[in-house]
Amino acid sequence: MKQGKMIVLGIESSCDDTSAAVTADGRELLSLSISSQIDIHTLYGGVVPEIASRNHLKNINTVIQQAVDEAGIEYADIDLIGVTCGPGLIGALLVGVSAAKALAYALDKPIVGVHHLQGHIAANYIQAPELQPPFTAVVASGGNTDIIDVRGYNDLVMLGQTRDDAAGEAMDKVARVMGIGYPGGPVIDRLARDGNPEAIDFKRVMLEKGSYDFSFSGLKTQVINYVNHERMMGREIPKEDLAASFQQAIMEVIVSKALEAAEEYGRNRIALAGGVASNSLLRRMMEEACRQRGLEYYRPEPVLCTDNAAMIACAAYYKAQEGLFSDLSLDAYPVLDLRWGME
Ligand code: KG4
Repeated sequence: MKQGKMIVLGIESSCDDTSAAVTADGRELLSLSISSQIDIHTLYGGVVPEIASRNHLKNINTVIQQAVDEAGIEYADIDLIGVTCGPGLIGALLVGVSAAKALAYALDKPIVGVHHLQGHIAANYIQAPELQPPFTAVVASGGNTDIIDVRGYNDLVMLGQTRDDAAGEAMDKVARVMGIGYPGGPVIDRLARDGNPEAIDFKRVMLEKGSYDFSFSGLKTQVINYVNHERMMGREIPKEDLAASFQQAIMEVIVSKALEAAEEYGRNRIALAGGVASNSLLRRMMEEACRQRGLEYYRPEPVLCTDNAAMIACAAYYKAQEGLFSDLSLDAYPVLDLRWGME
């Protein structure tokens, strides 16, 4: 029930998850409904945009209804609608944005467009009620690997991003070549637990000194060349060792750049976000590094790392607190500057 709190309905459909959620006063999660399309896209070894859009369309109303029912509210109780408006797959985004606008119009409620990365970071606010900006955020997923300086709830500054493959993308592509399944990140994470991270010496790509950008395509190619070479020589691929060595090379670079950014900008907290933030090695390494340096360490539970609407509802709440509303002219944007809608 409402009890004077601000009830936000969040909607997310930027890639292959259709999700809706209800939060109260931003951080209190009342319901979260996610319809994943992984099984469908597994057939193709990656997300097929047109198929994703069609499935969002099929699922969106059910997912929203589920979130409203599970929260124990009526549509009339909703005070605000938050929706991911970019970046992402344009056809996929349009389904969520259109549903959100239709509801905002029908219910006569305000609407807030949310940048997908701002949403990922906000997952940490739901997980950790005490967390407040400023802090250093690492957003790593299938589409992004970014270091972001979080100066305020709506004041995010991009310090660095991947110049080619995202961390999750590199893991998915390597897994495809290894023939171990899709999505590759979780499979590599699992295999790596039984492997030796020092078995194969892959080069860590740090780029020029002082840069917070990433480049994972060279590492991906090193791994693929290694696999092809071993196959040509008729040798069996040491899957566990390969997974462990590859994963170690990715996570070392991410952790090292995050620590450098926290130091340069004087932040005493680091928060992980995005699908790759579920990675057990990344979580372990970051926790240990933060402990050693006396930094606070935050990470969402896995269901809040992956694409979900709870994080979008939370981010929408903080935008509304600062009067950063959208209107019914809100559109979907495949490419979107991080500071969109923050000024
Ligand atoms: O944030 P997300 O659900 O979707 C977007 O990319 O927007 O992230 C999905 C990515 C995939 O590339 C997947 O392989 C990766 O996150 N991932 C992981 C793990 N779980 C998911 N990568 C490494 N370790 C994991 N445990």
